[in-house]
Amino acid sequence: MQIGVPKETALYENRIAITPDTIKKFIKLGHSIVVERDAGKGSFITNDALEQAGAQIVDDAISTSDVVLTVNSLPIEKINQLKHEAIVIGMMNPYRNANLQDYANRHAKVYAMELLPRTLSRAQNMDVLSSQANLAGYKAVILAANQFGRPFPMFMTSAGTVKPARVVILGVGVAGLQAIATARRLGAVVEASDLRPTVRDQVESVGGKWLDVPMSEEEKAKAKDTGGYAWTPSEQYIKDQAAVVDKAVSQADIVITTAQVPGRNAPRLIHQATINKMKSGSVILDMAVETGGNVEGSVVGQNIITPNGVTIMGVPNIPSTLAAQSSALYANNLYNFFATLMDDNKVFALNPEDEIQKALLVTSQGQVLLASR
Ligand code: NAI
Repeated sequence: MQIGVPKETALYENRIAITPDTIKKFIKLGHSIVVERDAGKGSFITNDALEQAGAQIVDDAISTSDVVLTVNSLPIEKINQLKHEAIVIGMMNPYRNANLQDYANRHAKVYAMELLPRTLSRAQNMDVLSSQANLAGYKAVILAANQFGRPFPMFMTSAGTVKPARVVILGVGVAGLQAIATARRLGAVVEASDLRPTVRDQVESVGGKWLDVPMSEEEKAKAKDTGGYAWTPSEQYIKDQAAVVDKAVSQADIVITTAQVPGRNAPRLIHQATINKMKSGSVILDMAVETGGNVEGSVVGQNIITPNGVTIMGVPNIPSTLAAQSSALYANNLYNFFATLMDDNKVFALNPEDEIQKALLVTSQGQVLLASR
């Protein structure tokens, strides 16, 4: 089969869905690869490197390909070039994708990698959300540290003592945990909170201090039962959390927010009243800016400086700022999923009963399947 990889066209996107390493693996499975010219440029992968690995460089990687590997959902003009019943694999943004019906109209089989059942152990090497969030959590701290006009670690010098920076991380999933670890490695004092109380141990294990929000027994039970994702907090919890956040954030030098709820807008965790109390020179980086934002006043792609001197960074697509590495991990995730579409003889055989394939498939046989879940 022919596997095609287009050049990404989304704003802020530098990644590519294939690398020389995975090209060699696909070829070993008996497939041929076409990659759109310069598709690797943003990830520092040259056309030559892709060719040397065995790919053919082309101007159109879509219309003759049986399988299309992509980072983001394709633009409509490329969807309309898909072969009948082509397979498309990528981060398809399934809950906000306005083009799913267009894929269905081409009878494409679209697999949205974000829908992976992440708690399955055999799925872990396909987990694009984790591979990208891990890098993003690290880079968020570096970006905020660069914006901050002071150092992170404590320094004791003859000219005076420099206090360590106070960092607050809100939302401790994969990105948040890596952000805590990174800020600690740079020498900051770190506090963190999440509405899943089970992450307290993880926060403490990487040297963070847990910011506790009181929970009822009913809420604790609810929090256990959500497959690792956020539960819907009560009004009382939101009020208590706001008080905890207000106290910690108003004293912080750096705040990084990562709270997301799959399929919904990000929760608003930091309000203007709290920002007004922060010191001049403090920095807030809102990692959820693209899904509505955790921070009042954050804007995609902008650094907003408030009248009291707080910088609110709305950095979109942080994984893309580490494109060489994020592409390498992403391409491995896609290869690992693709390999599940093969039978024991390495022959392409879709299995609609396979738990992973079933979870990811969002369009098939002319239908959008997502709404019926
Ligand atoms: P995410 O990006 O969906 O959200 C980030 C964090 O924000 C989550 O920890 C969530 O609880 C928190 N959050 C959401 N709303 C909030 C609110 N109102 N207040 C405070 N915090 C809020 O999360 P991510 O990184 O995609 O991972 C979700 C969970 O799934 C993580 O705990 C992760 O460890 C778990 N996971 C489990 C795997 C497994 O069991 N093998 C594999 C991968 C992830």
